[in-house]
Order: sequence, then structure tokens, then C-alpha cells
Amino acid sequence: MGDLIDGLLLLAHLTRRAMQRRSVDLVPIVHDIVTRLRSSDPERAVDLVVPDSLVADADPRLVRSLLENLLGNAWKFTNKTAGPRIEVGTVATGEPQASAFFVRDNGAGFDMAFVGKLFGPFQRLHANTEFPGDGIGLATSQRIVQRHGGRIWAEGAVDAGATFYFTLPPPVPPR
Ligand SMILES: Nc1ncnc2c1ncn2[C@@H]1O[C@H](COP(=O)(O)OP(=O)(O)OP(=O)(O)O)[C@@H](O)[C@H]1O
Ligand SMILES: [Mg+2]
Repeated sequence: MGDLIDGLLLLAHLTRRAMQRRSVDLVPIVHDIVTRLRSSDPERAVDLVVPDSLVADADPRLVRSLLENLLGNAWKFTNKTAGPRIEVGTVATGEPQASAFFVRDNGAGFDMAFVGKLFGPFQRLHANTEFPGDGIGLATSQRIVQRHGGRIWAEGAVDAGATFYFTLPPPVPPR
């Protein structure tokens, strides 16, 4: 209940708070979050694959919250998977000069027939008994990405993992 209220307060807050945009490297934030997940769940061994640097022009606090949600999901939904693995990186989107970041896992996945529901508040595709949660993390993630003028989308398959893609403005080149 506490988590739910915190999540809802954050979601409400995100629509109002002024953004503080600057050049942010996502990679140290990813390492920090995964280190915390590992220490909260020390019996699990989850491989992390991440490049040296992934830079965007974004609000560092909001980016941390976005990555906490996506990495927290990847961590949770690989809970029953042998050889769990989380990968963070970028892919070309086909749109002019736009690449997307992604967070990919090899966990429980989901049925693409319901992909349209994922980002709605309180929408969950897995039973609470199997994978607990409130269904607020992806709604928050979508709000964060949209506030940056980006978009977020997902691909997955049942028992074959999930990938969450998102775009953020590129870093402003130094003058
Ligand atoms: N990495 C993933 N693999 C498989 N399914 C996912 C993944 N991430 C999200 N989902 C599906 O999308 C639903 C919504 O995700 P969301 O993060 O909003 O909620 P939650 O993780 O269930 O709860 P909360 O984030 O509030 O703790 C999940 O319940 C799950 O069904
Ligand atoms: Mg979640």
C-alpha cells in the first residue's frame, strides 16, 4: 500500500514539476540501480550487459525513476528464469537521426495481443501471486518519456522475454 501511494504521488508529481534538463549518462545510473537490486536480492545472480556510456539530454531524476521502473521489472520478471540476463543499449529506429534506448530481459515476457494495455495505470498482465506489483511503474515511465518529448513501446513474447524501448532527446553538442 505504501508503495502504491508513493507510486501514485510520483505519477501525479511528474506532470507538474519543472524539468531540469542536462546531459546525463544513463550507464552509471543503471549500474547503481542494479547494484541496489542485487543487494536487496543477494541470492539471485542476474547477468547485466551494458555499454560504457549512453548519453541523453534529460532530467537526471526522472531518468533514474524511468530506469528504476524498467530495470525493476526486468529484475522481477526474470525471477523464474534460468540464466537471467538484462541488457541495456541502443538501437536504430529507422527514423532520421533517432536511436532508441532499450532495456531487454529474457524473463516471463508477455502476450503481444495485450501490448496496448501495458502502459495504462493499474494494468497488469501477470497474476499478483506470481509476480507482485501495483501496475503503476510503466504508466509513470510513459509519463516521464512523454515529458521529454519521447516515446516508449514494448515487444515481448510469453516465456521469451521483453524489450522496452524509449527515446529521449540527444545530448546537445558542446559549442
Ligand atoms: N519486463 C517485463 N516482462 C514481462 N512483463 C512485463 C515486464 N514489464 C512489465 N510487464 C507487464 O506489464 C505490467 C505493468 O507493468 P508495471 O511496471 O506498470 O507494473 P508492475 O511491475 O506490475 O507494478 P509496479 O511497477 O507498480 O510495482 C506488469 O504487471 C507485467 O504484466
Ligand atoms: Mg513495475
